[in-house]
Amino acid sequence: MNILLIGSGGREHALAWKIAQSSLCDTLVIAPGNPGMATLGECRNIKATDVPGLVGLAREIKADLVVVGPESALAEGLADALASANIPCFGPLKKAAQLEASKGFTKDFCKRHKIPTAAYETFDNVEEAREFLKTYSPPYVIKADGLAAGKGVAISPDYQDAVAEVEAMLGGRYGPASSNIVIEEFMTGEEASVFALCDGETAILFGWAQDHKRAFDGDTGPNTGGMGTYSPAPIVTPELLRITEAEILAPTMAGMKAEGNPYKGVLYAGLMVENGRPRLVEYNARFGDPECQVLMLRLKSDIVPYLLAAATGGLKNLPAPQWHEDPAVCVVYAAKGYPDSPLTGSVIRGAEQDFGPDVTVFHAGTSRGEDGSLRAAGGRVLNICARGKTLQDARDKAYDAISQIDWPGGFYRRDIGWRAL
Ligand code: AMP
Ligand code: GLY
Repeated sequence: MNILLIGSGGREHALAWKIAQSSLCDTLVIAPGNPGMATLGECRNIKATDVPGLVGLAREIKADLVVVGPESALAEGLADALASANIPCFGPLKKAAQLEASKGFTKDFCKRHKIPTAAYETFDNVEEAREFLKTYSPPYVIKADGLAAGKGVAISPDYQDAVAEVEAMLGGRYGPASSNIVIEEFMTGEEASVFALCDGETAILFGWAQDHKRAFDGDTGPNTGGMGTYSPAPIVTPELLRITEAEILAPTMAGMKAEGNPYKGVLYAGLMVENGRPRLVEYNARFGDPECQVLMLRLKSDIVPYLLAAATGGLKNLPAPQWHEDPAVCVVYAAKGYPDSPLTGSVIRGAEQDFGPDVTVFHAGTSRGEDGSLRAAGGRVLNICARGKTLQDARDKAYDAISQIDWPGGFYRRDIGWRAL
């Protein structure tokens, strides 16, 4: 098969690494890719949001399957354009991708289909939002309706701060993405990320992990896209998975289909778990980053038949995916200043050495200097991933590898996996 993979982050490097191991994959082309992926396939410099450019590339390489990593490509309608061109695509149509792209759409959908989530109201008017806030107690949860590069959620400790957030968002802080906002009940509990592959009819579980969203140790500092993950997470018990399938995933698949909007691709359910019961915090229409990295390390089965079946149908005919028992950890090595203003351009030494069979380094925001050096080119730069006999063992291996990388311009959390240890 000729496979075209879209994206340039650590998530896509991990997908490329796994796809390249498949005996079904003859050619792997990646757009735009990054220096780490260049050893796994041919990288072509076309942006993930350049829909005509990507459809043209898919035609040129006679792609049998296009695998879409980031949500930005889906929100631009890449899956729709590929469907028109009759090219199988792993990823939902734009209308179904609203499960990620519009919080209001998802909250209304959950209400219609009785999917457990926080109580909420949607607003486009400051006065009404201000009055509604008075009916809640702190902390207040205020969300931009649309995609805001992971920044559109504010948790306000008091009423004044909440009103300021409402005014800023409705005043256009995130452009059209915050012309509508959702105010919702604050949920307590522990978060977990559960993934399902979907073909429009069926959803099959495809791994779970726990992320660390805050920038610094002890879950302090600003929210980020994710500073590290581990899998499996003890909070995700077989019983929790059973309830998640029955009360969240299955009604979502059935509801989307019944509404003429079948969902295909990966569905990432962000859950809040309290007393063993899950409630949906949000859906994403893509793999988590850096959740995908630990899933790929643990996935024993060939991934390609699953991606293809999610794109073209027949997931229910495949055996359940097989996973390595060994836990996996991913530590994100980010550029200093991330998430607000990461300093790019610094040189990284020692990241491309062989760290042994249990350690894999995925690239995210890296670039190659003219002198061949590896440089920081984004916020999250490297993902140091390891598998081990125990979580502690995996963690030790990851941190040992990090200690061999010379990058004064970077920082990382030293406590990934603390909840489980
Ligand atoms: P989201 O982008 O919707 O995942 O929100 C980002 C983060 O905000 C989540 O991962 C949670 O940590 C937190 N969050 C969002 N909604 C709620 C809620 N209703 N109650 C408590 N925490 C929330
Ligand atoms: N790691 C969280 C996310 O991908 O949204």
